[in-house]
Amino acid sequence: TWRLTWLSLLGSAAYLTYEVYKEVNPSPQIPQSPLKPNGNRRKTVVILGSGWGAVSTLKHLDTSLYNVVVVSPRNYFLFTPLLPSVPTGTIDLKSIIDPVRTIAKSTPGEVKYLEAEATDIDIAKKQLTIQHSSYSATSGVHHVTIGGDEAKPIVATIDYDYLVFAIGAQTATFGIPGIEKYAYYLKETADAARIRRSLFETIEASQLLPKDSEERKRLLSVVVCGGGPTGVELAAEIKDYIDEDLSRFVPGIETEMSVTLVEALPNVLNAFNHKLIEYTESIFEKQQLDLRVNTMVKKVDDKNVYATVKKSGGDTENVTIPYGTLVWATGNGPRPLTKAVAAQIEEQKTARRGLLIGEHLLVDGTDSVFALGDCTFTKNPPTAQVAHQEGIYLASHLAKLSKVDDLKYLIAQNTDPEQLVRLQRRLDRAQASIQPFKYTHQGALAYIGSERAVADLVWGDWSNVSTGGSLTFLFWRSAYVSMMLGVRTKILVVSDWIKVKVFGRDCSKE
Ligand code: FAD
Ligand code: NAI
Repeated sequence: TWRLTWLSLLGSAAYLTYEVYKEVNPSPQIPQSPLKPNGNRRKTVVILGSGWGAVSTLKHLDTSLYNVVVVSPRNYFLFTPLLPSVPTGTIDLKSIIDPVRTIAKSTPGEVKYLEAEATDIDIAKKQLTIQHSSYSATSGVHHVTIGGDEAKPIVATIDYDYLVFAIGAQTATFGIPGIEKYAYYLKETADAARIRRSLFETIEASQLLPKDSEERKRLLSVVVCGGGPTGVELAAEIKDYIDEDLSRFVPGIETEMSVTLVEALPNVLNAFNHKLIEYTESIFEKQQLDLRVNTMVKKVDDKNVYATVKKSGGDTENVTIPYGTLVWATGNGPRPLTKAVAAQIEEQKTARRGLLIGEHLLVDGTDSVFALGDCTFTKNPPTAQVAHQEGIYLASHLAKLSKVDDLKYLIAQNTDPEQLVRLQRRLDRAQASIQPFKYTHQGALAYIGSERAVADLVWGDWSNVSTGGSLTFLFWRSAYVSMMLGVRTKILVVSDWIKVKVFGRDCSKE
């Protein structure tokens, strides 16, 4: 066995060295000519977004086949699975972001990145309108303006041959009064910074009030609405933070501070196996995390959450939950641009929750717009796993389309009957190689607090494993590290975990 151990260690070291070499020696990104070596015009692919779908497409695309332009207000990729660990400082924000330009440089051809958001798309003209927009990790969106007294936003247009629409989704508020004004979300980096700031502001402010004061109790109440994986993981992380670290800095805070998780349905984590749901709920009970199921939030104001509780007999009761920090994590809704695109296309008239796409990820009713990830509505869940697989598929699909396009061009240029027969055969083969997208579900993982996680794993069509506990927690960590894009971020995340184990999480506001 020692030989096997040595071999696997050597193998891992060689792989790591190769990955590091690739990261520190990016491709030269030489500007590409408008024509390909075979004389055909090089088409333009515009990728909108820098999230899971967009970056997966970019990373797997042979960028020498196209002029590739990436447009996104966020100049980095965010590894969302570890975002719930950021507000508490378990993970440093910088450890889970990769610059778009670094990712672009790891591809063979030149890639242009524009820090902007698309504000309009003219599907008929194949033209995008973009506006400079910069997403800051701590303070949200900023726009650089130009001009003298009358400052104007910087606006430009870009023509595309193919558009990859991967702008994700926004948190759904369902029009519930007060959410937009008073609640924090957990979708982006700045959201994590806002939640942390609020936690500390309320804790520090509460220390000025007498112990038995109702206002002190309210300030120390953290309410998380939505018992999907986002809400569960965040509530668990905050509870860990209070019990394991804040209690060392602010003695007694662990008995005064409360974390409440509010869920409209009878259970949390509804997509998981029922055994794991029960296990999660039992861990919450042990941790004294206040779980309120069957509780539908109807309204919030600056101090209270107003909800309706469904009783077992069918009756309902109105409850008021005071809060100091409120987080809203009740799933996805479409972004305004997604709705604007859908409104232009007859085939999208019924698209309410996202764009409708076909089996090649082409947006129904268009011939050149592909959409993937959370901005679409399909039978697959809105997860990173799906967006990532769609990106891999789309990159290979675009390579096949380039081949088909080149062969059609060569056929149009050629007059030799023998060569034409050969080219036609190659074209038939290239067209036949275009297959529909097929999603392979590998399972779901979620952190539930106290160094425990739950996992619903799938191996092929034949095996399903549902497991929860401390070993699953170790599996959860190693699975997420292996999913990270670069060696640098993998190392940073592991060192964050070691740092927290040795020193604990810190208690600075920023
Ligand atoms: P996103 O990753 O959201 O990317 C959208 C991109 O579009 C962003 O770069 C944004 O800046 C950009 N953009 C927005 N508007 C415009 C515009 N007008 N023009 C140009 N660009 C624009 N899934 C899992 O499978 N496993 C997990 O463990 C997991 N954990 C999660 C934890 C949290 C806290 C959250 C919020 C989500 C989690 N998910 C997880 C879900 C996963 O993150 C999403 O399904 C995934 O991010 C979807 O990828 P996307 O590319 O569609 O969108
Ligand atoms: P979600 O859609 O999974 O869950 C939202 C929850 O909010 C639902 O259970 C819903 O019943 C509840 N809700 C809705 N309105 C409510 C109201 N008014 N009052 C109280 N509760 C209400 O959303 P989430 O967690 O943001 O996840 C979005 C997507 O991202 C999902 O596909 C999820 O699987 C994925 N994700 C996966 C993670 C993982 O695998 N670890 C982590 C985070 C997200």
